[in-house]
Formats: sequence, C-alpha cells, structure tokens
Amino acid sequence: MDKFRKILCIGAGYVGGPTMAVIADKCPACQITVVDVNEQRVHAWNSDELPIYEPGLKEVVERTRNKNLFFSTDIEVAVKEAGIIFVSVNTPTKTFGEGAGMAADLQYWETTARTIIEYAEDDKIVVEKSTLPVKTAEAMHKILESNTKGIHFEVLSNPEFMAEGTAVDDLRNPDRVLIGAMQTEAGQEALRRVVDIYANWVPREKIKTTNVWSSELSKLVANAMLAQRISSINSISALCEKTDADVTEVSEAVGMDSRIGSKFLRAGVGFGGSCFKKDILNLVYLCGHYGLPEVADYWEGVVKINDFQERRFVKRIVASMFNTIANKKIAVFGFAFKADTGDTREAPAIYISKMLLEERALLRVYDPEALENARKDLAGFEEMVEYADDPYVCAEGAHAILILTEWREFKTLDYPRLFESMSKPAFVFDGRNILEHKKLYDMGFNVYPLGSSDMTRV
Ligand code: NAD
Ligand code: UGA
Repeated sequence: MDKFRKILCIGAGYVGGPTMAVIADKCPACQITVVDVNEQRVHAWNSDELPIYEPGLKEVVERTRNKNLFFSTDIEVAVKEAGIIFVSVNTPTKTFGEGAGMAADLQYWETTARTIIEYAEDDKIVVEKSTLPVKTAEAMHKILESNTKGIHFEVLSNPEFMAEGTAVDDLRNPDRVLIGAMQTEAGQEALRRVVDIYANWVPREKIKTTNVWSSELSKLVANAMLAQRISSINSISALCEKTDADVTEVSEAVGMDSRIGSKFLRAGVGFGGSCFKKDILNLVYLCGHYGLPEVADYWEGVVKINDFQERRFVKRIVASMFNTIANKKIAVFGFAFKADTGDTREAPAIYISKMLLEERALLRVYDPEALENARKDLAGFEEMVEYADDPYVCAEGAHAILILTEWREFKTLDYPRLFESMSKPAFVFDGRNILEHKKLYDMGFNVYPLGSSDMTRV
C-alpha cells in the first residue's frame, strides 16, 4: 500500500476518534490507526461502549473498525508505518509558569513531536489537527527537523471545526475544510496529498487552502467570533430583563437581517465546552505577546461577559427566592455544556452549581448523558448534591427547577406532574429559554425566562 494511504492519528479524544472514523468510512482505500497514551480510552474505542457519546458515531465505528480503522496503544509501530500523521492531542490552557491561565499548554504537542522523531524511519507529513497558537508550526518544524536521521517532516495545519453533538454530521458535510501549508514545493506536495484525502467526499470548492499561519489563526478566530455572538446576545439579555424587551424576539428580529444571520444568537446561561474559553484566552495572550493590548482587551470582553452571565443567573435565583436559598432543594435539569453530548468540560452548570452550593443550596442533578461527569465535577460536595436518573425524582420536593442544558426531552416533560411534586411556591429558571413560559405560569409556577421579564405571582 502507498505509504500516504497509511494514516496515523495521535490522540483518540473527541476530535481524533470521530474524525478518523469518518475518514475511514469515506476513504476505504486508506488504512487508519488511532493511538493514545490513555490505554483505557483505546480499550473503550475497541469495545461496545465508546468513550464518547455522539449521535451516529457508533454506527460509523462499527462499520469501519478492524477493517480500515484501528485503535491501538502501539505508537512505535504506528509511527513507523504511517506516511501521514495527524496530531489531535489536547491543548489546554496553561496552568503554570509564563502565560498561566491564558496561553495554550503545548507540552502534549511537543511530547508527540518527540515521539514521532524517536520512531520515524522515513519522511512524513505531520498535520496539526489540534487547535494551536499561530506560529506553532514553526516551532514544530524546528523540533522535528532537529532529528539526526536525515528525515524530512512537512508540517501542515488542518484545524477541526466540528461541534460536539453534531460531530458526525459536521465531519460528513463540513462548511469547509481548511488546510494550510508552507509555500514551498514540498509544502505544496504535502498539501495535495491531504487535499486528496478530503476530496473523497468534500466538494473541492469547500476545501480552502492557505498558508500555515492563516490556517492556524483562522481556527482561533472562528471560535472567538462564534463565542462573541453568544456574548453579544447574552449582554443584551441583561438589558432585556430590565426593559420588558424579550431577548428571543430581539434575537429573531436582528438575525433576520441576512448580513447578521440567525445562528449563534441564542441567549443562555453562557457558553461552555472545552474550547471557546481556552481559545479566546489563547488569542488574548497572543495579542498581548505581539504588543496589541487594545485587541487583547476587545476579545477578553467576550469571556468577561460569559462569566457575568453565569453570575447574573445565580443572583437572579437568590433574589427571587426571597434572598436565601440555604437548605432549599434545587433541581438542576441538564449538566452537559450543550445538548446531545455527555461532555461537561467548562459547562456553565459547573460554575452555577458551585455558586449555588456557596449559598448552601441542596442540589439534585439530572442529565440524560452527563451524570457520570457531573459527579466528577462536583466531587467533594457529596453531602449537598444528589444525582437522579429520572427528572421526576430529581424535582420531587424541590423549590426550583433550573434548565441549564437545552435537552429536547425537557420540553416534553409532564410539568403539571412536576409542579404537583414540588415545594411551593415552585420556581422555574429557564436558562436556555426552551420551555413554554406562559403555560408554566398558568400551571402555577413562578417563571423566570432568561432575557425577559419575570412571570411571577409571589
Ligand atoms: P481530548 O482531551 O478529548 O483528546 C486528546 C487525547 O490526546 C487524549 O485522549 C490524550 O490522552 C491524548 N494524548 C495526549 N498526549 C498524548 C501523547 N503524547 N501521545 C498520545 N496521545 C496523547 O481532546 P479533544 O477534545 O479531542 O481536542 C483535541 C484538540 O482538538 C484540542 O486542541 C482542541 O482544541 C481541538 N478541537 C476540539 C474540538 C472538540 O469539539 N472537542 C473541536 C475542534 C477542535
Ligand atoms: C465549538 C464550535 O462550534 C466548533 O466549530 C469548534 O470546532 C469547537 O467549538 C471547538 O473548537 O472545540 P462546541 O463547543 O462543541 O463547538 O459546541 P457549540 O455548538 O459551538 O456550543 C458551544 C457553547 O455555546 C455551548 O455551551 C452552547 O450551549 C453555547 N451556545 C451556542 C449558546 O449559548 N448560544 C448559541 O446560540 C449557540
């Protein structure tokens, strides 16, 4: 087999696993191996219980696994055999030293580069799939080229734009695939090889090729701009609550302007997920590093509004429940950072729950997919937090229900039944604006939609 059809992905996480499963499905002529240092994760990819929940993923993995898709811990063999190596390891925010709390922690990336040098025996294309600061490819290139075996490594950037919960659909029908390469002959040849993989199913006009730096930076900017839209509408939600305007109506009215568009204008308790905050902070750090404090401040505002939104939500709860929630039972509906995923990384539910616990509330959490993660996130608070695997059990005896994730099933629950079983007065704080507020009010609830006036009887 042509060595450039032997593809390796280092990092079997939320990106590596689904991305490679879809490539395997769409390119039967390629042989793909996904490796990880986490043995448990690799074992899970090889089992019936995949390590992550994504609609449609199981089917794709079952179709391809052990045919042209392999999950393994044997990094040495996999590196030796592959012609193209995607690197999809985590790039969290640095927690120590220079840039702590802002810059990207590149230690996993660098370890991977050194592993590649150690085992490689011939020239390879190394593709950055992880989200990285602009100019990382330069450092990677230097590290890889420091090898003493005379091997040439061509570094490309191919950031991933899939969203969790819709990963498989996004990978099958991407808005665009972005690939950046050096403007050299070797760079352009490597670029053609990676373009050829995607061209198996992505129309050519949707494969955008650029220089490496534009590609690296575009990924950070895309996430920053998506998050900026959310913070923009969330900031307006605060004003709506003061002025009897309704943020959903404002969002629809504004979004009907085709120049603005309607997507990512849903007000809520704030954006979560493993990437928005980390990528914006990374962008802020880079701007500071390059001596652009005004630009850094501009983007930092997006994160500040997100923190404000979470705090604001909790303040409204405390204020409307007679200024104390100590020892009151609160039913938390939804812990995942968004619907259709069990992922709770940076979920607003974590911050909101911790603020409520500081107020000494007693929480009972229900989430159809994320309870296991919720337990880890709230470890240490066992005496004040319970977990329910049924929403009706969750709300029994509670003073309030909080909607923190927009799971579809929350829309169709039997609210009269929930109301009956709750302490009175019963409150609903709809942090995602997915419920029928007037109906709930008519049932007897005190309703607090996000970004519009309270509907209250007390
Ligand atoms: P993840 O934490 O789920 O997975 C990363 C995996 O890499 C882990 O399983 C870890 O064990 C493995 N790993 C770390 N160092 C390794 C090494 N030296 N050798 C082998 N394996 C190693 O992370 P993720 O969510 O898949 O994100 C990966 C990258 O993709 C990040 O840069 C992220 O910003 C970016 N990204 C994520 C998403 C998303 O939806 N999660 C979307 C687009 C881009
Ligand atoms: C986001 C981007 O959408 C992806 O393109 C990108 O690849 C990915 O980050 C990444 O780099 O990790 P993801 O975080 O999985 O994807 O999910 P989103 O759908 O973007 O939602 C992020 C957060 O914003 C969620 O908490 C969601 O509830 C919130 N959100 C989204 C809103 O509050 N309002 C909206 O209108 C949209």
